[in-house]
Amino acid sequence: MGIKKRQISTEKNIQKQDLRILLRLSPFIKPYKKVVMIAMIALIVTSLSFLLFGQGIKLFIDEGIYTLNKTQLITIAVVLATLVIGTFFRFYFVSWIGERVSNDVRLAVFNHLLTLHPHYFEINRSGEINARLTTDTTLLQSIFGFSISMALSSVLLFFGGLVMMLITNIKLALIVLVTVPIILLPMAVYGRRLRSLSRKSQDTVADIGTYAGEIVQNIKVVQSFTREPEESLSFSNEVEKAFAAAKRRIMQSSMLISAAMVLVFTGLGAMIWFGAKDVSNGDISAGELASFVFYAIMVARSVAVISEIYGQLQRAAGATERLLELLSEKSQIQSPENPIEMPTGSLSINFDNVSFSYPSRPLEKALKGISFKVNEGETVAIVGLSGSGKTTIFELLQRFYDPSLGSVEVGNVNIKSLDPTSLRNNIGVVPQQPTLFSADVSHNISYGDPMANDKQIRNAAKEAFALDFIEELPDGFSSYLGEQGVRLSGGQRQRIAIARAILKDPSILLLDEATSALDANSEQKVQEALKILMQGRTTLIIAHRLATIMHADRILLIDKGRLVAEGTHQALLSSSKLYKRLCELQFNH
Ligand SMILES: Nc1ncnc2c1ncn2[C@@H]1O[C@H](COP(=O)(O)OP(=O)(O)OP(=O)(O)O)[C@@H](O)[C@H]1O
Ligand SMILES: [Mg+2]
Repeated sequence: MGIKKRQISTEKNIQKQDLRILLRLSPFIKPYKKVVMIAMIALIVTSLSFLLFGQGIKLFIDEGIYTLNKTQLITIAVVLATLVIGTFFRFYFVSWIGERVSNDVRLAVFNHLLTLHPHYFEINRSGEINARLTTDTTLLQSIFGFSISMALSSVLLFFGGLVMMLITNIKLALIVLVTVPIILLPMAVYGRRLRSLSRKSQDTVADIGTYAGEIVQNIKVVQSFTREPEESLSFSNEVEKAFAAAKRRIMQSSMLISAAMVLVFTGLGAMIWFGAKDVSNGDISAGELASFVFYAIMVARSVAVISEIYGQLQRAAGATERLLELLSEKSQIQSPENPIEMPTGSLSINFDNVSFSYPSRPLEKALKGISFKVNEGETVAIVGLSGSGKTTIFELLQRFYDPSLGSVEVGNVNIKSLDPTSLRNNIGVVPQQPTLFSADVSHNISYGDPMANDKQIRNAAKEAFALDFIEELPDGFSSYLGEQGVRLSGGQRQRIAIARAILKDPSILLLDEATSALDANSEQKVQEALKILMQGRTTLIIAHRLATIMHADRILLIDKGRLVAEGTHQALLSSSKLYKRLCELQFNH
């Protein structure tokens, strides 16, 4: 099992992106303008008090602490108190913004995912989408909750320190001014390389998550085929790839920091050398030199912090780009601007010359010019060999995809003119492989109608012949079913899915081999339940068994995406060879 090429983003466009992409997150910050203001004020106040600190050092050294008068002492106390209180507010509100914004982005991404067409999830693996939701948004949290504020305060301290240096001693300040551009240059060059390396490193980490997720989900297949050693080996390859990518990135980061440090210390050394001379000549006081060094270190530290954060911001730019890309993904299934109101009551279904290819297999037609009509309240069975296109008909009816040709009508309205939500509200499906959520029985049944009360849920379970086994579960309706309902048998899962459809009470019922996983005894019971359920509803039922087919008013025979015959069981037996063969081979079990 190899890692397929990711689809979510392409390498090309990231190269051109720069930090400006972070600005496109401003809509997420706008609602919290006031908090941002408080944080900014706290940030400016703390930076200013820190700058004043240098003056305190000068006072201490030149005048001595015991000779300070009351006002001077009070001033120092006030500055210190401001620094402490300001730091509290800054830390609290900046972190608050980080958490708030990253969670808002997470929510926006999730809400957007909910609206996307199913094809999107066929080409993007769930692990990658999860990585967007967790890793990328966490990166944003650290950026907004820490890095940006550190960068801003470093910029303030950098310029403030520089000004104070100039005020304290022009000659020494000039030495530093020459050093600073020399420091900035290599930083810019390295920063660029760091950006592409960061992205690669992040991508490989996402791959690891995807890989592990898939294996864990299919653990029984892995163990049954005893493929543990191979999986372990492939996973270790993935891990090593991630490590190699991270190694390249941290190498660049380390070089960047060390280069900056070498240059800073050289500058500092030169400065102290010249400064000490001036002190011994009596040009400046010892206190002035000390406060100058304090400012110089502050400036140097700011540069180091900015260079470090520059790399982080670039990683965040990568994450932001991917998140924005996901957010700008348009659903291929759109509600029309002015949707026609969903017809009420019993609904007919009409397929008019429908052809369709799955987007991931555009050359192969899953349906070829299919036309049929199901009248209000009628029950029609669909039969055909595996892969003939039966489930595909259901997918189109729910408008998970649009047909390439022809139209699908419900209640004599083209479903493209309806709001997909109101269309789906009127359709109840019992799918071929019923999927359950990792929650309890009640939650899974009430998925059909979140407003249902316990009694209604119980009734639905009873009608689906699920009550007996549910009551035998350790906690009855509150029993946890495990991830995707693994703690139930296939037949039990089907009955939960039937109960869910019963609770939804839809006008159109789509049953995809709803009873295939049941034994003869339970099947008979569920058949009876379905018979009651089908009354008064338009029902399409994909069937592999004669018992199911017998309930139908009519039968559609599908072969390789075409409708090849249509009629009652008896009529088809005499008119269609394929149907006869299907009956002999399959239906009579
Ligand atoms: N998501 C998909 N992407 C691409 N091709 C698909 C997809 N789903 C189904 N197909 C293909 O479309 C064809 C029809 O599939 P469909 O699921 O409708 O068959 P079916 O009649 O329901 O078969 P079965 O009885 O085995 O359930 C098959 O060739 C299948 O491989
Ligand atoms: Mg199918």
